Amino acid sequence: MNLDDLDSLQHDGLQRFAAATGLDALKAIEIEVLGKNARLTEFNKGLGSVAADERKAAGARINATRQALTHALASRRIELAAQERRVRLEAERMDLTEVIATTHQGHVHLITRTTQDLEDIFVGMGFQVFEGPEAETDWYNFEALNFPPGHPARTMHDTFQLELGEPGSVVLRTHTSPTQLRVMQQMKPPIYAVMPGRCYRRDTPDARHLPTFHQIEALVIDKGITLGHLAGTIDTFIAAYFGRNDLRTRLRPSYFPFTEPSAEFDITCPFCGGSGCRVCGRSGWIELGGCGMVHPTVLRNGGIDPEEYTGFAWGFGIDRLAMNRHNLEDLRDLLDNDVRLLRQF
Ligand code: DAH
Repeated sequence: MNLDDLDSLQHDGLQRFAAATGLDALKAIEIEVLGKNARLTEFNKGLGSVAADERKAAGARINATRQALTHALASRRIELAAQERRVRLEAERMDLTEVIATTHQGHVHLITRTTQDLEDIFVGMGFQVFEGPEAETDWYNFEALNFPPGHPARTMHDTFQLELGEPGSVVLRTHTSPTQLRVMQQMKPPIYAVMPGRCYRRDTPDARHLPTFHQIEALVIDKGITLGHLAGTIDTFIAAYFGRNDLRTRLRPSYFPFTEPSAEFDITCPFCGGSGCRVCGRSGWIELGGCGMVHPTVLRNGGIDPEEYTGFAWGFGIDRLAMNRHNLEDLRDLLDNDVRLLRQF
């Protein structure tokens, strides 16, 4: 065993590591240079036959060679790994700016967009947005809103009953008004909230009715709230939604069990500007929804003291609003999912 060969062995090993072009190649070279059958390993095996007084020095030299090679191997491995990663990332890079001319870009449905537009307007006016469940208990949908069992106003809501719990105790909500109660239970006044969502009634579909439709409810509860605030808020929102100042709004006395006084609100027909046309049935007005001052019983049911606070509420159909703004003739078109129609909005 000639220890001077170690120098050339080391030199040769270092060169081979440096020349390796990838991690797999490096692994193969490692086996040849440092493995069980490597020449360097032969030196270790040969130590036994070295004279005892030289054995320690010989062992140290062999180990130094092995260490130098092992270090060089480790740093070359790091280099090659980084290089392979760079190559891989480059190959996997995606050009996200690429436009494929043949794909059609989708967009949200007209009803979703109308809802989002409405939310934006109300958030801009300082309102918060809440959502309530579509399956509601009879208490939230009717009783807490001052429709006791057997109340005649219940028959105006053709209700889908769910087979859940006691018969008649869970329904598909017939309006978004039950969410008023959920908001009152969730936060203390002042409350400035809107609550959009899907509602259900057993209506036969026609051009202006669908068994599933959308409403947006508003609820304002604070000290000293009056009917004047209700009228002013409706005016402001109509001007913002239609983007014009020539539309007027009016309140007509009406009845809802959960408001006192109650009204229906109409807006100037946006198509004829009030002179009367086919869309508004020649009246010049379009009916939008119901509103009123929140009934003291409802405030109490929501845990709010009617001596301290007053409030107003309204609810109107989002589908009808979209229909009026976009001159749609038939609400059913919104559910047919014919892209030729939907794509226009
Ligand atoms: N929930 C009523 C309906 O669907 C509409 C309504 C009327 C909502 C008066 C209100 C309100 O908040 O105050 O017919």
